[in-house]
Amino acid sequence: MSQTSDNAVRAYIDQHRAAFLDDLADWLRIPSVSAQPEHDGDVRRSAEWLAARLKDTGFPTAEIWETPGAPAVFAHWPSGDPAAPTVLVYGHHDVQPAALADGWHTEPFEPVVRDGRMYARGAADDKGQVFFHTLGVRAHLAATGRAAPAVNLKLLIEGEEESGSTHFRALVEARAAELAADVVIVSDTGMWNETTPTVCTGMRGIADCEIELYGPDQDIHSGAFGGAVPNPATVAARLVAALHDADERVTIPGFYDNIAELTEAERELIAELPFDEAEWLRTARSYGTLGEAGYSTLERVWARPTAEVNGIGGGYQGPGGKTIVPASAQLKLSFRLVSGQDPYQVETAVTRWVEERVPAGIRHCVSFGAPTRPCLTPLDHPALQSVVRAMGRAFGQKIRFTREGGSGPAADLQDVLGAPVLFLGISVPSDGWHSPNEKVELDLLLKGVETAAYLWGDLAETWPAPPAAPSV
Ligand code: BES
Ligand code: MN
Ligand code: MN
Repeated sequence: MSQTSDNAVRAYIDQHRAAFLDDLADWLRIPSVSAQPEHDGDVRRSAEWLAARLKDTGFPTAEIWETPGAPAVFAHWPSGDPAAPTVLVYGHHDVQPAALADGWHTEPFEPVVRDGRMYARGAADDKGQVFFHTLGVRAHLAATGRAAPAVNLKLLIEGEEESGSTHFRALVEARAAELAADVVIVSDTGMWNETTPTVCTGMRGIADCEIELYGPDQDIHSGAFGGAVPNPATVAARLVAALHDADERVTIPGFYDNIAELTEAERELIAELPFDEAEWLRTARSYGTLGEAGYSTLERVWARPTAEVNGIGGGYQGPGGKTIVPASAQLKLSFRLVSGQDPYQVETAVTRWVEERVPAGIRHCVSFGAPTRPCLTPLDHPALQSVVRAMGRAFGQKIRFTREGGSGPAADLQDVLGAPVLFLGISVPSDGWHSPNEKVELDLLLKGVETAAYLWGDLAETWPAPPAAPSV
């Protein structure tokens, strides 16, 4: 951890910074929107672009892995040292939809650099945070004079994260031998803010739900029939209204069963963070907080399960009035999950809860997407200290711990590969994940490069030696 080696890393990054940013901009020009079928070809182009770039970076293996949905990219650079630990970096190359009309100041797939930020869909979530590993590993080699990384470095960059990672678990199961790793590093989360570097230690899970409610076979006159037949829009509204009680707790029986309550120590770690509610509300672009009684805002977002109405529709929405009983209504709900909750139990509980509330004369259908499980880092794992040290060297600051309220399929890697999951991200809440004008802070992106450059050496040096073979 000498100053000379840190200087060598920084010098290397400085020299290659311009080309690195140009390359990232090229990748961001590919609109790899996994949720929109018209972009299937772009998602594939994005995977091919990345595989080619990883080959150029020096990975001896960099290939496309097909799934029944969008392709993933796998890369492997063996260390050559039989004792070296194996690290699997996870990220995604697909992005959320984006259109100029949503309120972007410039074209979402035409990256622009302004005021030290790169604006484009995917700049932070997640292409920027995947891409910092390319320059990171090169800087690690340049500064150490090595020909191969100090760890066996694997990358798995999926193409379906923004549409629920539908085929991810099956892919990981099918390729478990090639993916085998001692630790997983998820590069798809953020830090506290621009001036407070932090390591994320957990993500929530999610179960996605669509409810269709059908009344009459077609829209019918509300004077001739209304008041004497059930209205599916009324039923939708009643479901939404019944979802939370006066304490903003979810009313679905069994929803809170078996969840891991926050320990006092965990609550203290959260309370130590410099939380400014007014500032947080500005980032949330919202005008008041509301959530489960008895928990702070951060606890609500990071460590409590929630039910959210993502969309509600049905009936006439055009100008003027239209006196009908509508034929149908729809709800899109999602449930964020925390440790201890089983997504399938939640699905069963929700389905039953809806069934009990739909009156005779309304047909209904409840369906769920592939659930994502919550995932926590084991806080006593030595690799966490490597991440903290590497980040500390890059930022020159104390590193604190956070969690994220968002979700990703990291728990599948943890379950199938039996490896602990750690998080490394430099994105900040103001980056606008999923919003118009998503951006990445270039200084932080380069700190990500620098952190990655230090991390592999630190992990290899501090990796616990296997127990000595018993002497005979
Ligand atoms: N990178 C995000 C998750 C995230 C959100 C991390 C906020 C840190 C802060 C990820 O790409 C994401 O958006 N996940 C979705 C999953 C969903 C589409 C199944 C999410 O959390 O809504
Ligand atoms: Mn992401
Ligand atoms: Mn996302």
